Amino acid sequence: MPTDDASNIAPVSPLSPLSVDMERVLLAEATAARARAYVPYSRYAVGAAILTADGSITTGCNVENASYGLTCCAERNAIFALVGANDAPAARRIVAVAVVTAGDDPATPCGACRQVIREFGPDAAIIIGNTEGRVTLRTSLPELLPHSFGPEQLPGD
Ligand code: THU
Repeated sequence: MPTDDASNIAPVSPLSPLSVDMERVLLAEATAARARAYVPYSRYAVGAAILTADGSITTGCNVENASYGLTCCAERNAIFALVGANDAPAARRIVAVAVVTAGDDPATPCGACRQVIREFGPDAAIIIGNTEGRVTLRTSLPELLPHSFGPEQLPGD
């Protein structure tokens, strides 16, 4: 059961709820990553922090481009970085994604990011927070992307 107890232990299973402490750590990491966002066009800075089943945290920010369509979201930048750096299954298994933007309107991952999260974290917890340190939404990948398509649908060889 999740509690507010500071001694609560960080989860490693994608199915276990996130401890309050881990949620705070992820939001702090996402906030720090957001400060590095390259957003000269939208001015909408986003930071993401991804917790994987090996207990590590990888961050990313959105990176825009003068050729606007080449922009890449914070969530995908973080996921591509962690997959590119690790090939152990636990290091690629996404347990939770934290996203931080300014304002009280929760910035849920876009459709493309949902599908990329699905690949590595079909049960991932999703926590959206703002720059004032408030959690604006707690949800999950299955809730954001029901009846999703994934690797299991593809025929094996
Ligand atoms: N953005 C993200 O980084 N993550 C999302 O899930 C939604 C949108 C970025 C892309 C672009 O740089 C800016 O927010 C405005 O769309």
